[in-house]
Amino acid sequence: MDIDPWTVYWQADHLESCIPSRTPEDSKEIAAFWQECAITLKDGASVVDLACGNGAIPKQLLSVNSTLQICAVDKAEISPLEYLSQTGELASVRFLPATDICELPFDDNSIDAVTSQFGIEYAPLKAACQAAVRVLKPGGMMRLLMHHAESEIVKPASATIAEITRLLEQQGPMKAIESFVSGNITIEQLETVGQSYLQAEIPGTKQVSGQVFAGIDQIIELMKTNPAQAEALLVNMEKRLVADRSRLQQLQSAALDEQQADSVAKEFSELGMDIDIFEQFLINGQQEDCALIGWKISAHKA
Ligand SMILES: C[S@@+](CC[C@H](N)C(=O)[O-])C[C@H]1O[C@@H](n2cnc3c(N)ncnc32)[C@H](O)[C@@H]1O
Repeated sequence: MDIDPWTVYWQADHLESCIPSRTPEDSKEIAAFWQECAITLKDGASVVDLACGNGAIPKQLLSVNSTLQICAVDKAEISPLEYLSQTGELASVRFLPATDICELPFDDNSIDAVTSQFGIEYAPLKAACQAAVRVLKPGGMMRLLMHHAESEIVKPASATIAEITRLLEQQGPMKAIESFVSGNITIEQLETVGQSYLQAEIPGTKQVSGQVFAGIDQIIELMKTNPAQAEALLVNMEKRLVADRSRLQQLQSAALDEQQADSVAKEFSELGMDIDIFEQFLINGQQEDCALIGWKISAHKA
């Protein structure tokens, strides 16, 4: 049975997923977007965070208003209090794992604010928009940050998917270490595969290939003292690589080009939302090194 790639990711102690931080300023600008939203909410307001992962947005909101009553929903088997090493404010959040945002378990017109960071666009959009608007109270606020097909987050995904595919292919390093662990090839043969991977004129990244090669070295060492542990490490590495590729493929399909983003905004208007802001989210907006992060929507229910 296939394991949900997001469940694998969230159970591996990550607070967030798609935030590119070239500098600490980047993360600050995104944090400010969410904190601004929390500041405008009254004490004790109810908030639903859609496709919440391990609660990056609840954490931001609570950092400026700890009285918010936040319920956070995700289809993956999330359990941040169990899997995150630093939970901080998240203890007060009600997390709902294995819950589809298209079928929100809340009454109509019952919630003060709905938020989502790189979340709503992963679900079937029409149904997810309908559900989000249905649960909002009249006057309730909605704030979304969605993937942009041309963003700094989405553009590098193709290269990383190709890199993982090379690592996993039949003649590649992961199959070679598997054969080495099973005793079917020698260390010299394993090294030859590694060399030819590294010598090919296709760029590999430190973050992916670098980590895989470090893992392979660790497996080789462990084989001398604890083969069972070496095998477990290998299985885990393979599982993570397959899951990472699948997550990136989902990210690519979720990303919205201009026309798709326009239709999301139109859908919300037709569902009775007044759109206050609908624009590209640019970090360092006026500067030469500005970075496109996504689409932002801020709206309220009429
Ligand atoms: C990019 S992550 C966003 C995580 C989080 N909002 C953050 O900013 O860290 C996308 C999330 O959407 C969730 N997801 C995808 N389809 C969903 C659905 N139909 N209902 C609920 N969650 C869904 C995935 O499980 C994943 O956790």
